[in-house]
Amino acid sequence: MNEALKPQLIMRRPNLDGLPDELSLPEGYSERHYQEGDAEAWSEIITESFEEEWGVERFKEYMLGDVSFKPERIRFICNADGKPVGTTSAFRRDDKYGPDCGYVHMVGVLKSEAGKRLGYAVNVAVLHQFKREGCPDAVLQTDDFRLPAIKTYINLGFLPDIVDDNQYQRWRDIYKLLKVDAPEIIMQHD
Ligand SMILES: CC(C)(COP(=O)(O)OP(=O)(O)OC[C@H]1O[C@@H](n2cnc3c(N)ncnc32)[C@H](O)[C@@H]1OP(=O)(O)O)[C@@H](O)C(=O)NCCC(=O)NCCS
Repeated sequence: MNEALKPQLIMRRPNLDGLPDELSLPEGYSERHYQEGDAEAWSEIITESFEEEWGVERFKEYMLGDVSFKPERIRFICNADGKPVGTTSAFRRDDKYGPDCGYVHMVGVLKSEAGKRLGYAVNVAVLHQFKREGCPDAVLQTDDFRLPAIKTYINLGFLPDIVDDNQYQRWRDIYKLLKVDAPEIIMQHD
């Protein structure tokens, strides 16, 4: 990856208070957790949205093989035909963020379903999952160019968690592009 985009951006929701009760899904859409047989659907969504090959074997190794995997931690939004069209996961990264902090992992929506705020909905489902599990907060890693994702995370109450001095300016640029007022911590830093 381009050196200017390193280190990766981190966003944190400092608590899980005030989550929306409803996912606000379009008519006929539904939300559920992972079931056996969902590997192909997950692979299709993530391969298309990340524009990178995420085949079933890679899914099995990376997601089902993760120590934090539980079926209820992989969430899907299904369209009116019952087809999974968006996903994200409520995992952990103990080594980086500790055992209790919720780690939002692998967010993607099929391009044909973009623009319906399904990314917001599936992330609300993940935040609800963290809350059920008693997590005090949630964290995620992202990249400067992922503007729809970052806007979604801001809408959900995530804030930049600065891990390198170069991120102050990177975050100022992002908030400017998104036409959102940047938080004080970003603006005050020289
Ligand atoms: C992130 C993702 C799931 C969001 O999908 P979605 O819910 O369909 O997103 P939407 O098109 O509804 O847009 C979400 C928000 O971003 C805004 N947005 C969309 N495209 C944008 C752009 N190019 N620039 C700025 N803002 C943009 C929308 O206006 C919307 O904001 P609002 O709800 O405040 O109006 C989807 O873009 C995706 O799969 N991206 C590729 C994978 C990825 O980057 N995952 C995140 C890894 S950290």
